[in-house]
Amino acid sequence: MTDMHQFLFNVYPYICLAVFLMGSLARFDRDQYTCKSDSSQLLRSGQLRWGSNLFHVGILFLLCGHTVGLLTPHFLYEPFITPAQKQVLAVVAGGLAGAVCFVGLSLLLHRRLFDPRIRLTSHRTDLLILIILWGQLTLGLVTLPFSLGHGDGSVMLALSHWAQHILTFRPDASGLVAMDWPYKAHLVLGMTIFLLFPFSRLMHVWGGFGTVAYLFRPYQIVRSRRLNVPPGRSHPGRFG
Ligand code: HEM
Repeated sequence: MTDMHQFLFNVYPYICLAVFLMGSLARFDRDQYTCKSDSSQLLRSGQLRWGSNLFHVGILFLLCGHTVGLLTPHFLYEPFITPAQKQVLAVVAGGLAGAVCFVGLSLLLHRRLFDPRIRLTSHRTDLLILIILWGQLTLGLVTLPFSLGHGDGSVMLALSHWAQHILTFRPDASGLVAMDWPYKAHLVLGMTIFLLFPFSRLMHVWGGFGTVAYLFRPYQIVRSRRLNVPPGRSHPGRFG
């Protein structure tokens, strides 16, 4: 293992995770009202409708797939599915979602680069994030033929071993040394997205997931029952 490999896969993940978590917290604490998607729908909605919907359907599927696929411990799925079958599932499902996401993201990027109104009102980070996401998605799609070349599922096992060891603070990147370059580039750029997250409009993702909490929020109490004014009185009395 070279020093560079050690840094990129054993140290860099922690730098990115720390900046992602602490940075998100600091941004929310300092500038809550800037944690938004900054929709440009009012400026031009045409290409956005298809672009945004295809992109979000694809990316949310990929996000869930990556989380479950990488972080589920091997022993939990072993009785039901072999690593080789899991790899086929990942390639097929990830490939379909990746293709949908790719079409959507390409529409979004095209619109942001070539629509003069959108271009003029875009911040540098809006463009940067779209270009990085496009690069990351392309790298992910490039790994597919490589994965089909390792039908035994060994690559998936090595990747999930690395990810699970990072999250449990036992970094071990030895399994990644012999891996093909698109996997390594995909990992490094993926971690970089976490690093840039708090400094960009990606902060809206927290809000997107946060809305689920709304389903479980308690009833809003407008006034307490004890303060109800009983009929025939002009002020709330003590009763009950
Ligand atoms: C958690 C659920 C999510 C919700 C509710 C959500 C919602 C939104 C909304 C309302 C917009 C404005 C787009 C528009 O004008 O239609 C937007 C834009 C965007 N979202 Fe999301 N989003 C979510 C997850 C994600 C994820 C996981 C990513 C990527 C990692 C992402 C990346 C983006 C980007 C890059 C844009 C800007 C697109 C552009 O206008 O060029 N979003 N999102």
